[in-house]
Amino acid sequence: IVILKDSAAVAAYGANIFIKQLQKRSHSVLGLATGSTPVSLYQQLIEATKAGNISFSNATTFNLDEYLGLAGTHPQSYRYFMKQQLFDHIDIDQTNTHVPPGDAANPIAACQGYEQQIEAAGGIDIQLLGIGRNGHIGFNEPSSGLMSRTRVKTLTKATIDDNARFFEADEYQPHLSITMGIGTIMDAKKVVLLATGANKAEAIKATVEGPLTAACPASALQMHKDVVLVIDEAAAASL
Ligand code: GLP
Repeated sequence: IVILKDSAAVAAYGANIFIKQLQKRSHSVLGLATGSTPVSLYQQLIEATKAGNISFSNATTFNLDEYLGLAGTHPQSYRYFMKQQLFDHIDIDQTNTHVPPGDAANPIAACQGYEQQIEAAGGIDIQLLGIGRNGHIGFNEPSSGLMSRTRVKTLTKATIDDNARFFEADEYQPHLSITMGIGTIMDAKKVVLLATGANKAEAIKATVEGPLTAACPASALQMHKDVVLVIDEAAAASL
């Protein structure tokens, strides 16, 4: 657990882990996350790419999750978010970027297909995570199976309310998602979880000091061999 002063320091520390990975390996498989927390980390990766310090030309990415019912062209989709926040500003071949297909005709088959794509890429080297206030990772809401794989998941009211800020008042907000499972995340060789702000303090306490329980999906990370929580003082306040 790395506790830093503020969100800027968290982003810089987290970005550095990805920068080192990209500099060290000729081909990296990166697991990426959405939400507001990783935005400044992505900004730093864009800057490092523009400065010529890193290249994504040999990188493959897999995002954690997507809203079910939204095509990747929809402004609220996570595919669109990733294009805006990262993919359109780096030298990645966009065919090597993967986000679960929210518009799949057969979502269950698409989930299995996503698992196969991760496996075919050789597994994820580093998985980036944020955390929901209820301890969710990806869209693995409380009660998610700790060995779960990529699947369709219903969102809790708490998560729908938390994410309502991204949607217009009269806009359709999906209640279903496709998300990597907790088992999928646990298979990543390394996990980097970022959390900032006082509203994450209870989730971080449950993740680190609470029991291993599906009631706090992030607590599964207690069993991971190589996981770092990079958090600011506000998020660490209840530890
Ligand atoms: C969404 C995403 C999660 C993310 C969470 C927290 O629910 N599916 O991957 O960790 O939001 O978002 P934020 O970083 O905006 O607090």
